[in-house]
Amino acid sequence: MSGFRFARQASFWFASAALLASYQPAAAQGQVTVYCSILEEQCREGATMFERATGIKVSMVRKSTGEVYAQVKAEASNPRGDVWWGGPGEPHLQAAEEGLLDEYRSPKLAELHDWAQRHAEQSKFRTSGIYLGALGVGYNTEMLKKKGLPEPKCWADLLDPAYRDEVQIADPSSSGTAYVFLATTVQRLGEEKGFDYLKALHKNINQYTKSGIAPVKATALGETAIGIAFIHDMLTQKLQGAPIKTVAPCEGTGYETGSVSIIKGGRNAEAARRFIDFTLSPEAQNINAKLKINSIPSNRNAELSPDAPKFSEIKLIDYDTPRWGSPAERSRLLKKFDTEVKALPR
Ligand code: G6P
Repeated sequence: MSGFRFARQASFWFASAALLASYQPAAAQGQVTVYCSILEEQCREGATMFERATGIKVSMVRKSTGEVYAQVKAEASNPRGDVWWGGPGEPHLQAAEEGLLDEYRSPKLAELHDWAQRHAEQSKFRTSGIYLGALGVGYNTEMLKKKGLPEPKCWADLLDPAYRDEVQIADPSSSGTAYVFLATTVQRLGEEKGFDYLKALHKNINQYTKSGIAPVKATALGETAIGIAFIHDMLTQKLQGAPIKTVAPCEGTGYETGSVSIIKGGRNAEAARRFIDFTLSPEAQNINAKLKINSIPSNRNAELSPDAPKFSEIKLIDYDTPRWGSPAERSRLLKKFDTEVKALPR
């Protein structure tokens, strides 16, 4: 080959290699693995929107909050996920404290309500707040009528022996929803009386489900008369025509700070940060209003669905998310619940 031809050939190969190389990093950063703890339909809608806007491919798995916490912990030496999207704040805070999450100060933080900014600060920016949801009770009006059962108004009412096998809640180890219920009960009554309450309630529980949404769907279908869950989830079923009434219990109730976090050591850190920015944006948070999911968004510019439960009308306790999300408290309460409540015969 002549010197000239060689140079031309070589420059062609260099150019092609450079072109290829310029694609390769894009391909390597062109995906993100998301462990999603909100509703399946929100997860799917969000993935499609993010893919469309960025070209980054989303691989999504829906799992309950406690399950994702356990998975992130188990995978700590070889993380497979990049982002953990949704679910109550406590398991996120525990993971943050245990060094399983990465710090990230999204430029979107400035657009968030104070409560969400506070949540990020409390976690040293290893998680961010995306929504609020108040805990409560929902009942199937037709079932109660058919069975001649009274309508509950307070947490204390749920201990009525007439409700034997009629109440459903998730398992707090797997479900973030049920953990908020456990922590709310302990905070409301103190630990000793709180566990007495949970043991008494245990007699009326027909099933501890894996996910927090299962009792909501079961209440809508009349598979259980009463469900304990987030009021906004019960409301969604009601808006779809289920014979459900929601109750904000008279003694006061706790609430979740829905969270999003980056998993430490994930393979797609840059894409993960872009995904976090997306989840904090009004566009992503408007998925709620679109799908009639009525949790309260954290971005000040996101739409608040007119059907969303009004926090000002709900008696809330001064629920201490950081305390119940500390590794010592969460691990201890879950263990105690397993041995002192769940193991009891019904
Ligand atoms: C639903 C609710 C969310 C909640 C989540 C927790 O998606 O709409 O507000 O954070 O459930 O799920 P889990 O299965 O962990 O209780």
